[in-house]
Amino acid sequence: MRIGIFDSGLGGLIIARAIVKKMPEYDYVYLGDTKRVPYGNRSHETVFEFTKEAVDYLFKKENCAIVIVACNTASARALRKIQQEYLPKIFPKDKFQRKVLGVLIPAAEECVKYKKVGVLATQGTVASDTFPMEINKLNSKIKVIQNSAPMLVPLAEEGEAKLALPFIQKYLKPILDKNTEAIVLGCTHYPIFKKQIKLTLRSLGVEGKIISQDEIVPKKLKDYFLRHPEVAKNLSRKHTTKILVTDMTKNIQKLSEKWFGKNIKPKLIILNS
Ligand code: DGL
Repeated sequence: MRIGIFDSGLGGLIIARAIVKKMPEYDYVYLGDTKRVPYGNRSHETVFEFTKEAVDYLFKKENCAIVIVACNTASARALRKIQQEYLPKIFPKDKFQRKVLGVLIPAAEECVKYKKVGVLATQGTVASDTFPMEINKLNSKIKVIQNSAPMLVPLAEEGEAKLALPFIQKYLKPILDKNTEAIVLGCTHYPIFKKQIKLTLRSLGVEGKIISQDEIVPKKLKDYFLRHPEVAKNLSRKHTTKILVTDMTKNIQKLSEKWFGKNIKPKLIILNS
């Protein structure tokens, strides 16, 4: 059985690339809902509906044993309901329960090293307050200041990282001061802008560490498989990756080839049929 990785668009591909690099032996299927991206400005109900359709596809059509929701918006708005309501309803008699994991808590866990952190995320993730809640569950003294960055996802989908610099300055300024020790990239699209974010931090005189999920999630997933051999034993190991999209965009074709090799061509699928 495969490992499924899902995002609204191409952001999760950054996480997928890092996971495949860490554990190349497994079989992966990436699903990007490029037709309906962005999720970040959509309602709770819509994000749940879209995420459920994607997870359902990965389990039923792609035979996944586990799905990583590599989307913070979906992790914040839909994950718990998927884990608590959808999974037991869909696979009640399975010999083993399928698993769905998110990417938000691994990033929150990194924050315990700091006293004050800034979080940059989508409007939906910020409105859900999931980052401050999860961070403060671990340590209620950590000060968490968040801001949404709505222009960054469309720019990432279009492959326009350079145009993002003025937006990044605008979004980062209100959440930073000299005491900010770390900045969480709370959307899986944002690691594309690491260079511009570092430049902005430097220009504002902030020394903060950048917490980026592509640097955290692969190790956490490997640890998870060690702690859960009942999940790992169901995973096939043929070193394959396939990429599925709901709309064939130029940039996802370009990035798939660049990050996963020329032989991996994204395939178009219909999600809500
Ligand atoms: N990459 C996603 C996230 O981590 C979603 C971006 C969007 O679709 O707005 O939040």
